[in-house]
Amino acid sequence: MTGLSTVRSDSGTRTIDLIGRAGIRGRGGAGFPTGRKWHSVSSATGQDDQAFIVVNAAEGEPGTFKDRALLRSNPYAVLEGALIACHCIPSARIVIATKASYHCELEAIRRAVNELTLAGWLEAPNAGLRTSPGAITIDVVEGPDHYLYGEESALLEVIEGEDPLPRHLPPYEYGLFTTSPQLGWSAGSDLSDGPPALLRSNPAVVNNAETFAHVALVCRHGADWYRSMGSEQSPGPSIVTITGDVNRAVVAEIGLGHRLDAVIDELADGPSSGRSVKAVLSGVSNPVLTGDQVATPITHEHLRAAGGGLGSAGFIVYGDDRNMIDVAYQVSRFLHVESCGQCNPCKTGTHDITAALEALVLDDRTSSDVVATIQRRMQTVTDASRCYLPSQEQILIASILNRFPDDLARRFIDHGDSSVVLPKLIEIVDGKAVIDEAHARKRSDWTYSSTPVRFSSVE
Ligand SMILES: Cc1cc2nc3c(=O)[nH]c(=O)nc-3n(C[C@H](O)[C@H](O)[C@H](O)COP(=O)(O)O)c2cc1C
Ligand code: SF4
Repeated sequence: MTGLSTVRSDSGTRTIDLIGRAGIRGRGGAGFPTGRKWHSVSSATGQDDQAFIVVNAAEGEPGTFKDRALLRSNPYAVLEGALIACHCIPSARIVIATKASYHCELEAIRRAVNELTLAGWLEAPNAGLRTSPGAITIDVVEGPDHYLYGEESALLEVIEGEDPLPRHLPPYEYGLFTTSPQLGWSAGSDLSDGPPALLRSNPAVVNNAETFAHVALVCRHGADWYRSMGSEQSPGPSIVTITGDVNRAVVAEIGLGHRLDAVIDELADGPSSGRSVKAVLSGVSNPVLTGDQVATPITHEHLRAAGGGLGSAGFIVYGDDRNMIDVAYQVSRFLHVESCGQCNPCKTGTHDITAALEALVLDDRTSSDVVATIQRRMQTVTDASRCYLPSQEQILIASILNRFPDDLARRFIDHGDSSVVLPKLIEIVDGKAVIDEAHARKRSDWTYSSTPVRFSSVE
């Protein structure tokens, strides 16, 4: 807790400046500058508000296992970062939101919280100055397995006891346990008798678990140390996960800036079975990277310039024997099932794209109409969307279809490979990825069938 003790003898504003100077970018996927986020939440927190610090430990991105690996090995760094956030905003409430199925992580978190409590680290000198003085409280929330739980506003809904349905407003405008009128999904305070005496929006800082650990590192070692790794725009270390057609599935920490092919070779022992790399996905939020771009340095800017993205550094490698239309089907299927249905173009659009891809992959005879369906739905799938999920569908599926036209042509001639999987990871054991096979039975209403679900015929 060296970083925390140093910070507690300094001002919150100067600590936010330090985080900004270090250039920490969120590790949850979008790479948003953490210092800027904390500055906004600190400014948005009114005298009557109670600000919250929320640790997003819901890790659900396919091909990503980094937050679970971190929480198992060093939950203290994550908690230290969250306690530093309490000092900066200021806030007296931390919520750690993880999944009920993440047993090892829950045990590690709870043990660390107990130890820090006993050691007196929750007795902050100025915690929650804008509300009431006293000790910082840490709540651990055990949420459901759905992908959308990791989306920051859906995460707040779950913390409040609701389903993971994204809200209209972001957490810095509309936080936790607010008493101001809600514009989100669930009904809030009834204003029919006039406005409540006190309108609170209780802004929340929501950061990825790894991001908080980076804050602790910077407060301990300084901005220059952090910037000694990576690039100007993407400084620091990163916990990467590599799965797919590699000899060894792995999760490991690297300095940003190394070439992706070198990292695949050194950490994952290279592509499996004498294959070469045909494509790499970075989770399901960025365009696909083609094999000839695999020498790209792992930074936000280099991967974006190559037409891909860093995301949450979960790299899924596909070998040269794969047909990428089979992969597109798995991605679209995942996003369709996980879409919550609050926005009709998202749920119906991802459905029709999935059904068209499914026909290409699984059916004997496929009409060329399926391509027209995909193109038409791709244009409207993001209409009136509350969250980024349908943009992911649009960006990733379009990139696969555009970059692998021969694979598309091939699927009009022969069957697809239904054994291709999208690694929704449960574990990585001895270099092998354990994948959630139940997802093939998950229906689009989030219930489970006893057999794999198809979308190109009536469910
Ligand atoms: C569909 C969807 C799923 C997401 N899942 C996660 C997740 O599992 N973990 C996470 O940290 N961020 C996830 N995010 C990103 C969060 O909404 C948010 O941007 C992030 O927690 C912010 O933290 P950071 O600034 O530290 O990156 C998801 C976003 C979307 C749109
Ligand atoms: S865009 Fe899709 S996933 Fe996001 S809230 Fe709307 S229906 Fe749900």
